[in-house]
Amino acid sequence: MEKIRIALVAAAVLCAPFATAQTATKIKVGLMLPASGAYASLGTAIENGFKLYVAEQGGKLAGREVEYARVDDESDPAKAIDNVNKLLKRDNVDVLVGTVHSGVALAMAKVAKETGTPLIVPNAGAAAITGSMCALTTFRSSFTMWQPAYAMGEVVAAKGHKNVVTITYKYAAGDESVSGFKEAFEKAGGKVVKELNLPFPNVEFQALLTEIAATKPDAVYAFFAGAGAVKFVKDYAAAGLKKSIPLYASGFLTDGTLEAQGADAEGLLTTLHYGDGLGTARDNAFRQAYTRVYKGEPDVYAVQGYDAAQMLAIGLNAVQGDLTKRQEFAAAIERAKIDSPRGAFTLSRSHNPVQDIYLRQVVGGQNKVIGVASKALADPGHGCSL
Ligand code: PHB
Repeated sequence: MEKIRIALVAAAVLCAPFATAQTATKIKVGLMLPASGAYASLGTAIENGFKLYVAEQGGKLAGREVEYARVDDESDPAKAIDNVNKLLKRDNVDVLVGTVHSGVALAMAKVAKETGTPLIVPNAGAAAITGSMCALTTFRSSFTMWQPAYAMGEVVAAKGHKNVVTITYKYAAGDESVSGFKEAFEKAGGKVVKELNLPFPNVEFQALLTEIAATKPDAVYAFFAGAGAVKFVKDYAAAGLKKSIPLYASGFLTDGTLEAQGADAEGLLTTLHYGDGLGTARDNAFRQAYTRVYKGEPDVYAVQGYDAAQMLAIGLNAVQGDLTKRQEFAAAIERAKIDSPRGAFTLSRSHNPVQDIYLRQVVGGQNKVIGVASKALADPGHGCSL
């Protein structure tokens, strides 16, 4: 027995330097994204974008080879804590990247803050992530729900519409999208006359579309994304509403969905921090590289994934890959200008992008950028005291 014990200890000692060298060289990135459910295609685009940037750096960031651990979060908030703990405890990741759904991301932000794990959120727009739950090493490469929604409130008011019905999923992302829209629209003299919603990821829109038809507003504002967005745009047109009541939305309604929406999406006006046809050298190079590797066109989610990797690289380079230097890691990202395909952006004090919100129109199956709805729009970051 004693011999076995000595042999085990000796083996552990011999293995120890090897294990340390391994962790010192590789960096393990935990990707927590949806690979199934209504937001699956959004998760894929984010992962593609993230991996494209890392591949462009030769698979290494700050000299450390990047390794991935993945978990399918199914966009299910009830499983979020377990899923993030799988990455932290089972896979021992150094960094968390995720996710799409705000309800899931809020749980990630809580665990990341409690454990001091760096987190980069490549989509989810709930305000609290870079508001009341903000943390030294929590960053967002995407947006808050408020940003494109507020910009659209101004656009719809400027069109002369007075009465609007809103429709969305009943969870943080939908609620905050509607409140951002309402804030700008009502400040400009409009009135939100009815707020309709349904539980995520339900796609039985018929009763709500009948209610819109009966209410006869001047316009409708919607937040849907992924599979729900495809079905909503098709059902809105099939109900005959597209001809009579103009539909406006944050750009999630038509990003990554146009092929499936077809003619039913043509002409729609949306606001978002990315779009087609920007025509800058940076965006052209990104789009060519993305299309070469993945064979399809990139969308806003791919850009957010790509920029999450850029932000991680900036932080890691500043500390020569040493993530124990948390202050310096965070400070480097805080003062950076991120060279994004969407256009360069900086981060607010609460670590959310300060960015242009474009006005886009669906033309020929593309989200064509037709103007800037709001220049360098910063989320207020309420409740964050970094
Ligand atoms: C969110 O839940 O925050 C969310 C999901 C999908 C989007 C945008 C935001 O396209």
